[in-house]
Amino acid sequence: MKSVSQELPDSAESFADLYAELRPQCEEIIARYPDSRSALLPIIHLFQEQEGYASIDAMRACAELLDLTPATVESTVSFYTLFFRRPVGKYMLQVCRNLSCTMRGAEDIMAYFREQLGIGHLETTDDGLFSYEEVECLAACDRAPCMQVNLEFVYDLTPRMIDDMLVAMRAGSYAVAPMTQTLAPGSTWMLQQDAQISRGTKSPGGRDVSDPNNTGGIGDSSGVIMLDRILAERDRFVGRTAERLPNEPDSVKRVVREA
Ligand code: FES
Repeated sequence: MKSVSQELPDSAESFADLYAELRPQCEEIIARYPDSRSALLPIIHLFQEQEGYASIDAMRACAELLDLTPATVESTVSFYTLFFRRPVGKYMLQVCRNLSCTMRGAEDIMAYFREQLGIGHLETTDDGLFSYEEVECLAACDRAPCMQVNLEFVYDLTPRMIDDMLVAMRAGSYAVAPMTQTLAPGSTWMLQQDAQISRGTKSPGGRDVSDPNNTGGIGDSSGVIMLDRILAERDRFVGRTAERLPNEPDSVKRVVREA
């Protein structure tokens, strides 16, 4: 397996020029916070907006600006699905695969995206236009199923909306602007080890989780396993839910009673 640094590409253009250009803005951002490390996410966003991804040079620059170790910066960047350590498509399509969205049809939405794009989770189309990822809860559960396009929310997804969205993106007329692309993307932006985790082929990582696809495992891919448990162990979950029933609206009480 390649090491992480072997997998990370250099920036497309002279990073020194970009750094010099953005440095005043970075300093302005840092001055907003009592603790400079709080500026890490906005500064990484700034570099990503310019380069189309969070390059290794950008991560090193952040470490220098904020007096952090490069490992701290990279571990932060790799934690969030908001950042991409390798070039991605002009439209990054991130569909929520978590529980509320799954209960509102996200499985069908994800299948439709895969079919229409001809690619799978964590992949980029050959023309470099689309990257596609199934992500964890986007904190917009009341508008499920939902997604982000280039980090902008799109709610209440339907296949018809997806059709319209992809047509507009291909025509260059979609409401959300395409991402900057300073380097041509490969077939995936994930590093080998991240992709193994996300696809559930790496060690589960969690304590007492023997299989990565079990609930709580790193590869617990869609919330479907939890959904299966709720259905299979209905009495247990209904019993717990019923504790809250006096304070729930009638619609919830009805669903629980019918379950
Ligand atoms: S489960 Fe999809 S936004 Fe929360």
